[in-house]
Amino acid sequence: MSTLSSSSVEMATKLMQAIQYDRYGGGPAGLKHVEIPVPTPNKNEVLLKVEATSINPVDWKIQKGMLRPLLPRKFPYVPGTDIAGEIVAFGPQVKGFKVGEKVVAKLSHDRGGGLAEFAVASESLTASRPPEVSAAEAAALPVAGLTAYQALTDVAGVKLDGTGDQKNILVTAASGGVGHYAVQLAKLGNTFVTATCGARNIDFVKSLGADEVLDYKTPEGASLKSPSGRKYDAVIHCTTGIPWSTFEPQLSDHGKVIDFTPSMSSFATFALKKLTFSKKQLVPFLVTVKKENLSYLVQLVKDGRLKTVIDSRFPLSKAEDAWARSMDGHATGKIVVEP
Ligand SMILES: NC(=O)c1ccc[n+]([C@@H]2O[C@H](COP(=O)([O-])OP(=O)(O)OC[C@H]3O[C@@H](n4cnc5c(N)ncnc54)[C@H](OP(=O)(O)O)[C@@H]3O)[C@@H](O)[C@H]2O)c1
Repeated sequence: MSTLSSSSVEMATKLMQAIQYDRYGGGPAGLKHVEIPVPTPNKNEVLLKVEATSINPVDWKIQKGMLRPLLPRKFPYVPGTDIAGEIVAFGPQVKGFKVGEKVVAKLSHDRGGGLAEFAVASESLTASRPPEVSAAEAAALPVAGLTAYQALTDVAGVKLDGTGDQKNILVTAASGGVGHYAVQLAKLGNTFVTATCGARNIDFVKSLGADEVLDYKTPEGASLKSPSGRKYDAVIHCTTGIPWSTFEPQLSDHGKVIDFTPSMSSFATFALKKLTFSKKQLVPFLVTVKKENLSYLVQLVKDGRLKTVIDSRFPLSKAEDAWARSMDGHATGKIVVEP
């Protein structure tokens, strides 16, 4: 296809349902149901009919203004970045996809666009989705799955083919979106996994493969002490509010805390540990989306080696309820919105 497809020109004249906000703050009540034009794909973009969008805490953190002035750069803004759907049109430079193909994509946080009936995604951040992987299972993967994957492989050095030295891994908030993937992915490697979660999710987290589980509301859980006396080579830290002084005694000599929500004090600890050449490190982490990693996760789901656990599903007409559920901070697995 050498020019923008005629179907995308037709689509651009159509209207679609979408969720938008036009200022910072407001929470679920700040989300408006609007009818806006179907977006037009640029030369290297695909246009998807959205089948599922998953919500991540970063979505409502952006709305709160926590990433201001970087995001969003312009209002009104359609939130949501993790989508699965079917390709309905594409730009002239797209070579790897065809109309009708099922895919999963990560949209940029700058443009957003996921909470809508149609969305445009860069070809470079779009991966094929086989029929065995449902739209909801796939839409849950990008931010949460890739965060768990990259932290474990790139930072903690876990090899998911099971080779490599055995590592002791602690996953905090193992019942959440990132944590439930982190436990399963860690267990593909040569690891012993300790996990923290609330009492109601202990059996669930064990079923994901965790070797030992701590209830975070008990003194033992708050101490993060491994019941079997292990010291952690890496902490996949999916929650907040745990000081370095709690982690430090539980780490092995070269143990690392991989912090997904670093605070000012985390950055201070990070700098101090670097400056003092400490072997134990705190590593502030920001996920980088790579298509090949996304394809790998989709393949694991297809092969039955990784599962997406869905906390709850909402129609687009109730997107504000999905938003509120995520802001509440008690999801078990992922929250999905379906147009
Ligand atoms: N830096 C990055 O690139 C990056 C990428 C992805 C995510 N993140 C951040 O990572 C964090 C986790 O994201 P997520 O999607 O996994 O969140 P989530 O799905 O909303 O996490 C909810 C889960 O956390 C559990 N939880 C809450 N406090 C806990 C505690 N003190 N100890 C143990 N479990 C606790 C809850 O259990 P209960 O209901 O039992 O309380 C619930 O199951 C968020 O802050 C997110 O913004 C950062």
